[in-house]
Amino acid sequence: MKFVHITDTHLVPPGEPLCGLEPSARLAKAIETVNRIDGDAAFAVITGDLSYHGMEPAYRTLRDILGDLAMPHHLLIGNHDDRESFKRIFPETPVDENGFVQYTLETNVGAFVMLDSVVDGQSHGALCDNRIAWLDGELSRLKGTPVYLFLHHPPFDVGIGSLDDCKLEVPEALGQLLANHGDVRHLFYGHVHRPIAGSWRGIPATTLPGTNHQVGLYLGAEPTMLGSHEPPAYGVCLIDDETVAVHMRYFLDESARFDLGSPQSKSAASPDQLAQPPVSMQGQA
Ligand SMILES: [Fe+2]
Repeated sequence: MKFVHITDTHLVPPGEPLCGLEPSARLAKAIETVNRIDGDAAFAVITGDLSYHGMEPAYRTLRDILGDLAMPHHLLIGNHDDRESFKRIFPETPVDENGFVQYTLETNVGAFVMLDSVVDGQSHGALCDNRIAWLDGELSRLKGTPVYLFLHHPPFDVGIGSLDDCKLEVPEALGQLLANHGDVRHLFYGHVHRPIAGSWRGIPATTLPGTNHQVGLYLGAEPTMLGSHEPPAYGVCLIDDETVAVHMRYFLDESARFDLGSPQSKSAASPDQLAQPPVSMQGQA
């Protein structure tokens, strides 16, 4: 099964810039690329910070852009989102009995469990007792079924001080529930605006660049959060009974594609001397 992971779209009202870029144009390009190259994916998941200010015009723009996506989409919220504004523009998104944007998507490779880690008005994340109770119920119901977990905030440090200061707080209850279930195969998160692979308490975990701006790689304590214009990407995720593989699709990259096995490519002195690959292997144009 193939699905697409997108994160941190940070949409603002139409025509407004953000960090010197245009978030809606960036997302539209990502969606166009998904349709063109990864259109056989079963669905797309966006792990929060859908908007930058949590304002309804940005969610309407998101809705318009996602209308072009050639597959279903499933949305989570992040710390830049406003839960109630989001729910007004996306009323079809499931919520739990307490109104949190949490739900489970059943697939042919297992259950995709989406969590709402947002604390109103705060950058850090948390799962309150009500959200933990919902997750406890879901994971009990899903005992024996592989689970893939999605949330905006990582429940662990990634080594970038400014982000470690606003991760998911008090993650012990989450960790205990995942351990009790015993078959949580991967944790997909956002918030970090960087490609990172690793694990938490033995569970593999990945995140990826946002579709607009990024966070510079500066390990340790920082005087401020370091923004960057490193390339945006979305994730192309392949899952079967035994494996999870997560690829980065740098959808603005226009560097050459070439036949790596040809002598012409190996001796090329410049990109225009590279041997052209077969059309089916050219990837993004
Ligand atoms: Fe973000």
